[in-house]
Amino acid sequence: HRTVRVALLGAGSVGSQVARTLLDHADELALRVGARLELVGIAVRNVEAKRDVELPAELFTTDAKTLILGADLVVELMGGIDPARELIALALGSGADVVTANKALIATHGLELFDIAERVGAQLNYEAAVAGAIPIIRPLRDSLAGDRVDRILGIVNGTTNFILDRMHTLGGTLDEALAVATDLGYAEADPTADVEGYDAQQKAAILASIAFHTHVPVERVYREGITGVTAELIDEARTAGYVVKLLAICERITAADGATESVSARVYPALVHAQHPLASVHGGNNAIFVEAASAGSLMFYGAGAGGVETSSAVLGDVVSAARRRISGGPGLRESMHADMRVADIGDVVTRY
Ligand code: NDP
Ligand code: HSE
Repeated sequence: HRTVRVALLGAGSVGSQVARTLLDHADELALRVGARLELVGIAVRNVEAKRDVELPAELFTTDAKTLILGADLVVELMGGIDPARELIALALGSGADVVTANKALIATHGLELFDIAERVGAQLNYEAAVAGAIPIIRPLRDSLAGDRVDRILGIVNGTTNFILDRMHTLGGTLDEALAVATDLGYAEADPTADVEGYDAQQKAAILASIAFHTHVPVERVYREGITGVTAELIDEARTAGYVVKLLAICERITAADGATESVSARVYPALVHAQHPLASVHGGNNAIFVEAASAGSLMFYGAGAGGVETSSAVLGDVVSAARRRISGGPGLRESMHADMRVADIGDVVTRY
């Protein structure tokens, strides 16, 4: 049986869930990939630390470099720039494919890493870097590649959406709500990245770069966080029929001459009309509207943060990279191995 050796870097909110699925669903994943995904090790800072889920102690190491050099596929879920940047470069350079959820790294050093990947013919997948479980990178990069995207409007940070939603519905302070969001595994290791809008700024830079086929540096995205949003402001907004949401807006702007086009990307707390679909995005959910010339308006909605939810996007990238490694393509026929019964029409008792 063929095997793809998977090294995991990080076993926090997301990493521990990815490890659990790789171990618990190994047979099912092997059928989908056409090879076994063997979790060969997990690099962490502290091998003794208590984990969210139980994982075999013998898999843990602090030696990320050695682990990487014995792997075909490296899943980076440590977060931060260093040492993630160097470790991903090492993995790609050694011929491994890489999957990451690290928007901070992709937004700031994505170009150099994509260059390495292209040079060595490896894959660098990052679906989970924007909006947790929601498929948005692939739809923008692949499905809409033949269209012309004009505008993206989104709630792309689960922590701040959770905080603002809670302030709207239960009252209370930003700090109280942040403590709950952190317990739920939504917040970044340093939650300043969430509440000050840096996380959404990084995601906006990534989305704008893909949608407009133009490198948009993160520092060119206007950023304002939610620390200035008070209970009074929320009350005033409610009275006027609005809710406060942290929005990421990326759009194509045409100058007065009608010819010069530029990309504008900005993140700030905005008033959203209570009847607007974005107003009903609650808790840690995210939603992204995409307006494209031919496709019209599309909306992507779902869990924007959370360990289990985000592990879905990470594992999708893992399966996709492993399939390409094994068969050179997505191999749709190859993936139809599951021996499930197809329901008869009469079995369907619920009608919508
Ligand atoms: P956590 O902080 O929960 O976990 C980080 C893990 O990485 C820990 O296991 C930690 O080890 C390990 N780690 C950190 N630094 C090092 C290092 N220098 N060497 C070795 N191991 C290290 O992070 P999350 O799981 O929340 O996030 C991981 C990534 O996923 C981040 O890039 C984040 O932005 C992204 N993301 C997170 C989402 C979420 O909802 N949480 C959603 C979407 C993306 P130890 O346990 O020993 O401390
Ligand atoms: N801290 C991030 C958020 C995690 O709250 O959206 C998902 O990227």
